[in-house]
Amino acid sequence: MRIPIDQDTRVLVLTGAGVSAESGVPTFRDAGGLWEGNRFEDVASPHAFARDPILVWRFYSQRRAGLDGIVPNAAHRAIAALEARLGDRFLLATQNVDGLHAAAGSQRMIELHGNLMTSRCSSCDRAPFEDRQVYRDKQVPVCGTCGGLIRPHIVWFGEPLDGRDLDRVDTFARDAGRHLVFVAIGTSGIVYPAAGIVDEARRAGGSTWLVNADRPANADRFDHVAIGKAGELVPALFGT
Ligand code: OAD
Repeated sequence: MRIPIDQDTRVLVLTGAGVSAESGVPTFRDAGGLWEGNRFEDVASPHAFARDPILVWRFYSQRRAGLDGIVPNAAHRAIAALEARLGDRFLLATQNVDGLHAAAGSQRMIELHGNLMTSRCSSCDRAPFEDRQVYRDKQVPVCGTCGGLIRPHIVWFGEPLDGRDLDRVDTFARDAGRHLVFVAIGTSGIVYPAAGIVDEARRAGGSTWLVNADRPANADRFDHVAIGKAGELVPALFGT
């Protein structure tokens, strides 16, 4: 199967943890939604950070360390190759914070949930900064400007996504109209607003495609469903 793409087609890709699975990054729900017995929601929230910043930094430090030596796979590369072919007629929105799309060469990209290798101050408005530090031994980094606690630059449960990012996705879908092809890859369709982008794509008049290892929660809302591994299916679907 190959997605029909002509000179008017505009492609909006949404990715989730499944696209990085073949690179060796564990997905959220395949791990049972648990880390060291804690639900993800209980370590990835402002409430958790206020209660136990050491625990939260231990979780994100492990995830940072886990990216050591991890490289993009065939699905990341196929997505970047499609962008190289389509230019401004392409947009990628990812829920992943692992930076693998950028490593594969994606540029027209929105990291809806932030980036694991970026931190920011939880108190002052100092700009987010690159931070590859792994914190161990009960360390919590402190802001050199205001003394507040530094936190991962991740959108946590209970926090809104950046409205500018959602506007960019909306505008791309609306402008594309019936020329829109929306492709969701490796995402369980549970976490909103990302899981609702398929509805926007349908409203805009586009066609909708899904690539996932199993049938996710929102599978019925897609026109075309391809079940299998992203690294095998995506290069064929994109013809890259
Ligand atoms: P999930 O872990 O919920 O879902 C990953 C999906 O990828 C599952 O449906 C798997 O079946 C599928 N999958 C696994 N391996 C695959 C492969 N090789 N090829 C294709 N599909 C595969 O991850 P997300 O949907 O990304 O939020 O989760 C959404 C958000 O919930 C995450 O961004 C995170 C999480 O809590 C935050 O951290 C804010």
